[in-house]
Amino acid sequence: MLTRSPFRAFLAAALLATAGAADLALAHGDVTPQPIDVTGLAPLKEGEWLTQNPYSGDPKAIEIGASGYNQNCARCHGLQVVSGGLAPDLRYLEKGQVGDEWFIERIRHGAHKSDGSTVMPPFEGVFTQEAMWAIRSYIESMHSDE
Ligand code: HEC
Repeated sequence: MLTRSPFRAFLAAALLATAGAADLALAHGDVTPQPIDVTGLAPLKEGEWLTQNPYSGDPKAIEIGASGYNQNCARCHGLQVVSGGLAPDLRYLEKGQVGDEWFIERIRHGAHKSDGSTVMPPFEGVFTQEAMWAIRSYIESMHSDE
């Protein structure tokens, strides 16, 4: 027993350190973005930002966007785009180009309070433009007027 205890103590310390690191990451709100595989979507020109969704209504884009949304946006905007109140309910985002423009601006740059603090992280440089418009396609497919 005695010979095993130092190893146990080491194990416990290692476990604690890991748990501590995870807590810290959560406390800072830095949840690692989940990669979005856009295979099957027509490629877009890098660095040329569109203001209109090129995949609107495309079933493949909606499928890719659903998974991308639920892994990266749902923790604030709610599962299936039904907001729990933390962040705006994106079902009410206007359809078509007006909504597209607002969407791409927000997802690229995020949102900040007047004091400069971040309420939504920017996703430019994190997701490809293809992935962003796939998410938009999914959100638009869940649109509600009520
Ligand atoms: C950490 C929480 C958080 C995450 C994660 C997040 N958002 Fe947001 N989002 C917000 C908040 C808060 C606002 C409201 C900002 C404001 O007051 O202008 C917002 C606003 C928006 C808006 C504008 C809505 C409107 O009605 O003006 C869009 C579009 C949007 N987010 C899309 C997304 C997408 C897409 C993702 C995932 C890639 C995402 N957000 C991830 C918190 C978040």
